[in-house]
Amino acid sequence: MSETGSLLVGLVCPACGTAVDHRQPVGTCPSCGGTLFAEYDLDRLDGRTWLRSLRDRPARLWRYRELLPVGRADAIVSLGEGGSPIFPLGAIPEAPDLTVVVKDDGGLPTGSFKARGMTAAVSRAKELGLRELYVPSAGNAGVALAAYGARAGMRVRIYLPERTPAPQRNACSSYGAEVRSVPGTIREAGETARTTEKGRGSFDVSTLREPFRVEGKKTMGLEIFEAGGNDGLPDAILYPAGGGTGLIGMEKAFSELARIGLLHRIPRLYAVQPDGCAPVVRALAEGAERVTPWADPHTVAPGLLVPSPFASERILAAVRSTKGGGVTVTDGEIVHAMRQLAERHGVSASPEAAAPYAALARLRARGDLRPGETVLLYLTGTGLPFSIEELERAVGVTAPPR
Ligand SMILES: Cc1ncc(COP(=O)(O)O)c(C=O)c1O
Ligand SMILES: [Zn+2]
Repeated sequence: MSETGSLLVGLVCPACGTAVDHRQPVGTCPSCGGTLFAEYDLDRLDGRTWLRSLRDRPARLWRYRELLPVGRADAIVSLGEGGSPIFPLGAIPEAPDLTVVVKDDGGLPTGSFKARGMTAAVSRAKELGLRELYVPSAGNAGVALAAYGARAGMRVRIYLPERTPAPQRNACSSYGAEVRSVPGTIREAGETARTTEKGRGSFDVSTLREPFRVEGKKTMGLEIFEAGGNDGLPDAILYPAGGGTGLIGMEKAFSELARIGLLHRIPRLYAVQPDGCAPVVRALAEGAERVTPWADPHTVAPGLLVPSPFASERILAAVRSTKGGGVTVTDGEIVHAMRQLAERHGVSASPEAAAPYAALARLRARGDLRPGETVLLYLTGTGLPFSIEELERAVGVTAPPR
């Protein structure tokens, strides 16, 4: 049986310090209920040699297998994910003195960056012999789990807020997953999922309630580093934060790269959230250690409708440790950004994915982004399933005249 060379050696809960055996299926910390994080024996990895060995591997996510949590090569459940392009966006009138690049995950399997987390979580679940998985999802995570679950021959149940856009709902069903509709937001979907699934022997793949989706998301940071090395790193990364897994994942990637002697400078991470649901941005502004739930959450971006992200203290710590920050955008600005990305730049972005573009002008005006800096917009998902015109009507902005 072929081995991947994964250096996974254990799981640890940073909140209380409990170490957990990684050779069995486990969700959250058995002592305090916090998120468990994968630990690797990084002393066994010589950074420079490893970086050189990557050159001979396919430009895909599993090229980073030493820093991913799967030991048996035949357990890997892949749809060819990873290796998404990074390219300059060109001149932006609202921020002319910045160099703006995008990393576009819209072309990943199932159309979003959620494929990264799910290939890792489903592969590890397969390696540990799990057969039935469930997840509460705003849409994209559900579609990704449905696809990877189908590929792994597992049963999948997905709990979607009832306002989830039809394309995502339909896609989940198309992959053969069982879909349940739950009134409210992802918070209620999560509560219903956990109550319904209790005692069924199924495994919860909710983000940060199992240790491995964040490992897949880590590859966002690994790819950003590998693309340009220390000299090519952006000064700042703007990321649409919902559950916050991507922020934690990128920060973990940069820390691990620093520990193996490769990375010398960590890009500042910015959480972009809609002003109708911005618990992370508010907590950053208040200097709080964790978020307080956002009352009456609403936004046109379903993936950002997360009023009370789990493990919020980790999200806040990730942003702060990079000396980044938070910023809100309006729904109108989000939809306007979708149109501008499409019409000015030929780039299709989902509402979530357009939020960082919408945040550029405000961060530049505030002085968070400085003249001459390079800014990477993380484009988390494709806009192709969405009608910009319908969204413009929904948020009450008018399309530009033709
Ligand atoms: C397209 C898109 N972008 C961003 C997010 C938020 O991601 P995270 O949980 O990493 O904050 C989601 C979550 O559903 C999403 O679907
Ligand atoms: Zn703990």
